[in-house]
Amino acid sequence: MKSSMNKRSVSKRLEKVPASPIRKLVPFAQQAKKDGVTVYHLNIGDPDIKTPDVMLKALTSWDRDPISYSQSQGEPSFLLALKTYYHRFGFPFIEEKHIQVTTGGSEAVSMAMFSICNPGDEVIVFEPFYANYNTYAAVNGITLVPIPTKLENGFHLPERKIIEEKITNKTKAILICSPNNPTGTVYTKEEMDMLISIAKKYTLFLLSDEVYREFCYDGKRQVSLFSYMEEIPNQAIVLDSLSKRYSLCGARLGCLVSLNKEIMDGVLRIAQGRLSSGLIDQVMASKLTEVPSSYMKNVQAEYQKRRDVLFEELGKIKGIDLPPKPEGAFYAIVGLPVKDAEDFCKFLLTTFRDNNETVMLAPAAGFYASTSLSTGATIGKNEVRIAYVLNTTAIKRSVEIITEALKQYISSY
Ligand SMILES: Cc1ncc(COP(=O)(O)O)c(C=O)c1O
Repeated sequence: MKSSMNKRSVSKRLEKVPASPIRKLVPFAQQAKKDGVTVYHLNIGDPDIKTPDVMLKALTSWDRDPISYSQSQGEPSFLLALKTYYHRFGFPFIEEKHIQVTTGGSEAVSMAMFSICNPGDEVIVFEPFYANYNTYAAVNGITLVPIPTKLENGFHLPERKIIEEKITNKTKAILICSPNNPTGTVYTKEEMDMLISIAKKYTLFLLSDEVYREFCYDGKRQVSLFSYMEEIPNQAIVLDSLSKRYSLCGARLGCLVSLNKEIMDGVLRIAQGRLSSGLIDQVMASKLTEVPSSYMKNVQAEYQKRRDVLFEELGKIKGIDLPPKPEGAFYAIVGLPVKDAEDFCKFLLTTFRDNNETVMLAPAAGFYASTSLSTGATIGKNEVRIAYVLNTTAIKRSVEIITEALKQYISSY
């Protein structure tokens, strides 16, 4: 009896996979919409900016029949386009053999973790961090070791000593994301130099999630791990995605880039096992080299404007804890004058209505490892992540709704 029960039980690893804070409140939002309520989505980085025309045209002029698998490493035209992009960006040493196309940046993160870690190994992350790293870590049996950063200084890195203290004989890698989701922080050259020097000293992999590479504001530029790749060729892995850069979230395309031959041979074997990424998506995305440079300039200007409007409006809310303006990406971590931000987010979706409208936010606790791995700590519990992916009118209206909702929530709870 006992053994048959055990056979039916799910794995310990599955039990550890947390729900994504970005999506876990979706059923409440769906119910609100069914009830005829307008929901402003500031919970997810799914941009409303138009996909480049040249890519959409590739879909309308589709002439391949049948729609076959693509190659496991990636569709040749897409690999070539990615290589050309990296060359234009100033990294001429990248060849097709250094690129593995993935089904979204998500698969690139998961493949990278799987490739370098055995179950039980540790990966250092700076918290708050992209919540879904928790998913990939749990799936791969990896322990994320969080190092806190602070809202007051825009979530920049702590001093070297604090990072080095967290390195154990199980540490395999440091995983960074700059510009950062969820904080918008763009690491400086000094910070990147420090990380490279630590990776060298302790022979660690450095995984750099550069999904938001081109989303930098106020004239700032991202310092890419590519700039150091030839210095630490066997330790550097860049994780990339087209989702945000070209508003291609639904196309599910990204890539993993490394000069480490063993890693590239290994990820190709994984890729062969899952056959290929989508052919149609890749053929469409191959047009990225034809996207005019004005496209990204306009996108950057638009997000900078949205950020400024968001911060101006949020600044008017009493008791709110605002970080310095994010330097990149399109997110902000904001402290609310409530004890439990998740409860407030639910209240917004289930109870609060202003002119039959409400807002969806992502509770931020899930962006901290210390809570999601159930240590009991309440770090980030009063915070939300706001994705400024709507136009400025919608952002202004959303903050108006949040302001009214906070008043009602605080007075009645
Ligand atoms: C930091 C970061 N990495 C990876 C991803 C995954 O992106 P994709 O849509 O390409 O799977 C996201 C998506 O939000 C992200 O913010």
